[in-house]
Amino acid sequence: MKKNLSLKGIKMKTYKALLFFSVIIFAFLFISCESDNKENIIVIGQFASLTGSEATFGQSQDKGIKMAVEEINKTGGVLGKQIEVVTEDNQGKNNETVSVVNKLINVNKVVAVLGEVASSRSKAAAPICQNAKIPMITPASTNPEVTKLGDYIFRVCFTDSFQAVVNAKFAINSMKVRRVALLIDQKNAYSTGLAEAFKLTFSSLGGEIVAEQKYSAGDKDFKAQLTDIKAKNPEAIFIPGYYTDVNLIAIQARDAGITIPLFGGDGWESEKLVEGKARESLEGCYFSTHVSKEDQSPLVQEFLNKYRAKYNEEPDCYAFLGYDAAMILFDAIKRANSTEGAKIRDALAQTKDFKSVTGNITINEQRNAIKPCVIIQIKDGKFKYKETINP
Ligand code: PHE
Repeated sequence: MKKNLSLKGIKMKTYKALLFFSVIIFAFLFISCESDNKENIIVIGQFASLTGSEATFGQSQDKGIKMAVEEINKTGGVLGKQIEVVTEDNQGKNNETVSVVNKLINVNKVVAVLGEVASSRSKAAAPICQNAKIPMITPASTNPEVTKLGDYIFRVCFTDSFQAVVNAKFAINSMKVRRVALLIDQKNAYSTGLAEAFKLTFSSLGGEIVAEQKYSAGDKDFKAQLTDIKAKNPEAIFIPGYYTDVNLIAIQARDAGITIPLFGGDGWESEKLVEGKARESLEGCYFSTHVSKEDQSPLVQEFLNKYRAKYNEEPDCYAFLGYDAAMILFDAIKRANSTEGAKIRDALAQTKDFKSVTGNITINEQRNAIKPCVIIQIKDGKFKYKETINP
């Protein structure tokens, strides 16, 4: 009996030992497999307003970036590695931006960050990227302050210093107006910055700002502001806001008997701008933006075809710019021949004459892109190309 028992004991011990070693071997295989995988990918991060009141901005950025990632991976990736993008939704909020960008850097260990469209959110993210020495590229934040937040912060779009001049010149030379009213989204860095720069140039060109009214994004009733503006008898109203608000403002302006043209900047660009009654309210109005789909250059048309085939919908300028931001990053990583933040940064700063789908991009010393600006006119709810203004 005793013998048998001890035999059993030996069998149990061997069994346990075997189990123990196989667990160790499996764990080892698993870990080495994992690190092998990690060695073969480059992880980049993006933060975007995928939900919230500016959701079309974030969704477009995301679609453009994903298309660029898919394309580069098909051609063998970057430095022989595949690109993986980790996407975080900031719900269009500044505080949410801070936490998702911290997560991208500290948890996902991304080598670079792409985002955002709205300047206020890019301003929230920039100090985090700068402190971590992780390059950040905003596809579409035009506020001049964004790239001043550090030498790791870049943009692939023009700035509002230029966009304001474009609008002021267009008002004077093409719309032939001298008396303009302003309606400003008071808590939005983009809106206040663009308004200030517009005022300066417009006045220097002989124009007069006859009224200046404010609102806050998300407001539903603009009657008080519109009544004041109407009383000052302007020839046009400049609204540097974004599409959700402009949609309502346009409808209420017409209801208030205001028939003069409204015009604005790239915050207008979304199909949702002309939804519902705003389609007729905005007939003939203008906004400045980054690209026109009527541009017949092969790069633009090729992008359009690929995008339509992939998503079965029309891209807006933020999809173009998301694509460009990603492609410029991949180009910089290749030239840097490294995924080290400082080296990517240096390569980004040296970007010259990059053939992008929103025009050739050269990054200047302030880490801004110097590019032309396009004016669109709204006709039958469609965005028709009007003219291009060069820097
Ligand atoms: N270019 C604009 C910006 O920098 C885009 C935008 C406008 C986004 C308005 C949100 C609201 O902010």
